[in-house]
Amino acid sequence: MDLHILDHRLRVTSISKNGLVHFTHPLIKLIFLRNRTRCKFFSLTETPENYTVVLDEDGFKELQPSEHLQVEGSIWLPLNVVSNGNTSSSSQAVGVTKIAKSVIFPLAEQHVSVFMLSTYQTDFILVREKDLSVVISTLEEEFKIYREVAGEPKKLQSSLCPALQPTVHPVLIPQNQFCVMSLDPDTLPSIATTLIDVLFYSNSPKEDVPSNQDLDCIKFFSFSLIDGYISLVMDTEAQRQFPADLLFTSSSGELWRMVRIGGHPLGFDECGIVAQISRPLADCDISAYYISTFSFDHALVSPTCPL
Ligand code: ARG
Repeated sequence: MDLHILDHRLRVTSISKNGLVHFTHPLIKLIFLRNRTRCKFFSLTETPENYTVVLDEDGFKELQPSEHLQVEGSIWLPLNVVSNGNTSSSSQAVGVTKIAKSVIFPLAEQHVSVFMLSTYQTDFILVREKDLSVVISTLEEEFKIYREVAGEPKKLQSSLCPALQPTVHPVLIPQNQFCVMSLDPDTLPSIATTLIDVLFYSNSPKEDVPSNQDLDCIKFFSFSLIDGYISLVMDTEAQRQFPADLLFTSSSGELWRMVRIGGHPLGFDECGIVAQISRPLADCDISAYYISTFSFDHALVSPTCPL
C-alpha cells in the first residue's frame, strides 16, 4: 500500500453559530464558485456547537480575521492511503476501519495527534506539519511513502515513548441516521438553493414543516470539495430536502448511526482518540467513517454494528 502526503497545507478553523452571517460571502465563493478561488481543499461541517471549516491556505485567505473565527495554530497536512490493488486486504470494511491498524494505531503509539476527515471517496488523516518526520519514520515500514509536490508524487527514502493509557471520553449516540453521499460537481448549481437553505438557514423556523429537532437528534451536516470531488454527510431529514436523482451513495445505500466522542471540547493535542474508537471496530471488521470537528469527534458506524 502507498501513503501519499498530499500537497495541501491546511488550517483547522471554527466559525461560531451567530458569527456565520459574517462569513456567508466567502463560504458561498468557496462552495459554489470554484473558478474564483485557488482553494483545492475545503470542508465545512455544521454541528450543534459551531461550524468547522478545514481548508488550504488559498481558501484560508478568503476568511477575514474576526472574533467569530477561531483558528487552530498549526498547519496540518493530509495523508491518504492508496491501495494499489494487488494487495489482497483481508478487510472488507470501509472508512477508518480499513486504515486503523496500518496508520491510526501506529501514529497513536508514537503520540502523534491526528484530525480525521472521512469523505465519500476516501479518508484523510491530517497530521501537524511539525510531526511529519515522526509520521514518516513510523509509517515507512508499512508503506511506500510519496510526498506530492505540485501534483507529482515523489518517493521518500527512509524517539519511541511508552504508550500512555488513553483518556476514555464519554460518547453520545443520537437517534438520527446519516448517509454519506456524493454529487457530480457540474450538477452543484442544481442543488444550490437547497444547499444554501440547509447550510445557512437551517436554524430559522420553516413555515410549512413542523420543527422536529427533538432532543435525541443532533444537528450534523458536512460538505466537502476536495481536489474536485464532493462529499456530503447528512441525516435523513436533510436528505429529504434534496432532489433524489442528483445525489448518489454506495449501491447498498446504507444509513449510518453516529457516535459523538467527547464530553467537553477535545482540543488538538491529545492523541489516541481515533485509535481507541477504531480499535474495537477494526477487531470486528465493522466499517466506520470518522469526522473530527473543531470541538468533538464523530464516528459513523455501520448499522450492522451492535451499538
Ligand atoms: N487528536 C485526536 C486523536 O489523535 C483526534 C482529534 C480530536 N480533537 C478534535 N478537536 N476533534 O485521536
